[in-house]
Parts: sequence; C-alpha cells; structure tokens
Amino acid sequence: MKTKQIIAFILSLVMCFFLIACGTTEEQTDRVDELVENETLAGSQTDSTDTDIGNKTQESDQTEMAEENSDSEQQEVSGISEGQVFDLENGTVMLNSGYEMPILGIGTFRLSGSEAENSVYWALRDGYRLIDTARIYGNEADVGRGIQRAIEEGFVTREEIFVTTKMWTDDFDNGAEAINASLERLGLDYIDLMILHHSQPSNDVGAYQAMEQAVSEGKLRSIGLSNYYTPEDFDRLVNATSITPALLQNETHPYHQSMEMKEHLRQYGTVMESWFPLGGRGNTQTLFNDEVISGIAQAHGKTSAQIILRWHLQAGNIAIPGSSNADHIQENFEIFDFELTDEEMEQMTGLDRNERFAGY
Ligand SMILES: NC(=O)c1ccc[n+]([C@@H]2O[C@H](COP(=O)([O-])OP(=O)(O)OC[C@H]3O[C@@H](n4cnc5c(N)ncnc54)[C@H](OP(=O)(O)O)[C@@H]3O)[C@@H](O)[C@H]2O)c1
Repeated sequence: MKTKQIIAFILSLVMCFFLIACGTTEEQTDRVDELVENETLAGSQTDSTDTDIGNKTQESDQTEMAEENSDSEQQEVSGISEGQVFDLENGTVMLNSGYEMPILGIGTFRLSGSEAENSVYWALRDGYRLIDTARIYGNEADVGRGIQRAIEEGFVTREEIFVTTKMWTDDFDNGAEAINASLERLGLDYIDLMILHHSQPSNDVGAYQAMEQAVSEGKLRSIGLSNYYTPEDFDRLVNATSITPALLQNETHPYHQSMEMKEHLRQYGTVMESWFPLGGRGNTQTLFNDEVISGIAQAHGKTSAQIILRWHLQAGNIAIPGSSNADHIQENFEIFDFELTDEEMEQMTGLDRNERFAGY
C-alpha cells in the first residue's frame, strides 16, 4: 500500500510536471506568437527602431563629426583667426584674400569736393592708411586727389594705402565698366578692395562675377559685400560665386553689434567692417551720451568717440569713422594707447539692442 501510494505520488508529480511543462510551452508559444505578431504588425516600427538606432548612430556619428568639425572649425577659425585676429599693435588684419588691411580708416560718406579731399589728406598725414569711398558718394575723384597730395608730399606711398570703393546697384549689369570708371576717377591702377554696395538678388551675382574677373586682371585685390543682413542672403551670393568675400560692411555700432552675421562670417574667414561706427551723422550724441560709454570714457580720460572706436577694434570690427573735422580725425586715430578691460568689453556688449539707425 505504501509502495502504491509512493508510485501514485510519483505519477501525479510526473503529471504535474508534464502539465506545467505543457502550460509553459503553450505560454511560451503564445508569447512567441505574440512577439511574432507584434513584430509583424510593428515591422515598420522595428525597422524604424533599427532606423532610429541607425539614425542615432548616424546622429552620434554626426554629432561626433560635428564636434570634430567644430573642433577643427575652431582650429580652422583660430587658424584663420590667427591670420584674422586683429593686430592691435600694428592696426592691421590679414584678409582671407591674403592681403593685409588696416583696421581703422576714414569714411567719406556725405563729404564732397575739397571737404573729401582734405579729410583724406589729413587722415593720411595723421597716420591713417585705410580710406573708404563709393561711386554713389560722388567723391571718388576728390578722394583720389587727397591721396595724390599725400603721396606727392611724401607722407605715404601708394603701396602703403588701402583704398576701398563700392559698386552701386545701378551699375550691377555693367560691372566691368563700373570698375574701370572707379579706377579712373580715383586715379589709381588698382583698388585694394571693392565691394557691392547693397544686396540686390536680381543681379548682384553678375556684378560680383565682374569683380572676380577684375581680380584676375589685377584691377582689384580683394572683393567683398555691403548690406547683406541675413546669413541666407550672404550664402546666396557666396554659393553662386567663386571668391569668398574678404569683408562684409554693414551698419554696426554698440546698439547694433551684428552678432549673428559676425558668427556666420567666421566659417568663411570674412571680416566685419562697421559703417555708422559712431551711429552716423545726427545719431552720434545718442551713443556719446550713453551712460555706459561716457562712464568708460571718463575712466580712461578719453572721449566717447574714442571708446566706441576702441571697442570696435577689440570686438573685431574694422571701423571707418567719417569726419570732415581735422581735430576729430586726429582724435579718432588716438586709440592705440589704451585698452578696454574684459569687464568694459562686457559692458559694451550689454548695450546691443539690435537697433539700426539707418532705415535701409
Ligand atoms: N556701405 C554703406 O551702405 C555705408 C553707409 C553709410 C556709411 N558708410 C561708410 O561708413 C563711414 C562711416 O559712417 P558715417 O560717416 O556715415 O557715420 P559715423 O562715422 O558713425 O559718424 C559720422 C559723424 O560723426 C562725427 N564725428 C566723427 N568723429 C567725431 C568725434 N571724434 N567727435 C565728435 N563727432 C565725431 C562726424 O562729424 P564731424 O564731421 O564734425 O567730425 C559725423 O557727423 C562713411 O563715411 C562711409 O564711408 C557706408
């Protein structure tokens, strides 16, 4: 009886194991079915998961690449910027065209006749080597005379001067002629830098290509742009042409610091040049009387104009203040004997309000 009981117990145990095993198998089969079904149903999901993973891998590759790129970009930028970093002792910057450019110059907007001639002459006498003019200012011939006088009096040689002029939008369809006409009015056999005066999507590419052609003919040394205010507009021109612009001249001053465009230009090694560096005629007092600017001026025993101009140079902006006043011209060049501290530079950065004075 005892043996029978033991056998029955063993048999029931075996049955139990069998049943449990069957149940488990069914359960497992169910689960497998469920999984297969789910996978089939979610085939695309699985794919997409794979893709996601693929994407992630790609993404992480890209991130790594981006990081690497940004590293190399940093290096590149610092490579470029080593060339591009403003030499504040010599007052120059190396352009991506391979030509050295002074970082402080004289602007000639609204100056004409003897006023323009004298301003250029005084500036060259005081040590300036950069002159900014434009065909639309109607003063290229006057500027040329100022240069000629300074050369004849032995202050400078042609090679020491850097002359910028601009092609006006009406001339964009006849770029080659416009370049020859500017050369003639200036009385020069080459122009250091010519820039398109304004973005004009309908025909600025052709005008830029005319400047590229003039570079190959030795008539222009460097070429660039003016009044391109968005990265997209800048890239539109860059992508359609061959020579990377050496410079972009945009309205830039403490209330409109052009940070987005400057950041965008880094990848091209293109430098920013500020027009209206002091706010422009009629607006200068707004900047001169700004409490931060006048406070810093007081601390250094300098004028507000000098503080603003020094800020431009330390911020990496070429500045071309316009003036017909001999004293102002001299004052504006006396900014190489002091330095704004990091804190002062930060205070100046804090003034940015993305506010332009010009309505164009
Ligand atoms: N690409 C473009 O579309 C564009 C547009 C505008 C200008 N620009 C270029 O950028 C240059 C600079 O712009 P801007 O001349 O119009 O404006 P700006 O240089 O910002 O300001 C010129 C004004 O500042 C005064 N000024 C200069 N130095 C001074 C000082 N130390 N103390 C007190 N006042 C002083 C001048 O008067 P005084 O004559 O009495 O000194 C003039 O009224 C132009 O001359 C031109 O070459 C280009």
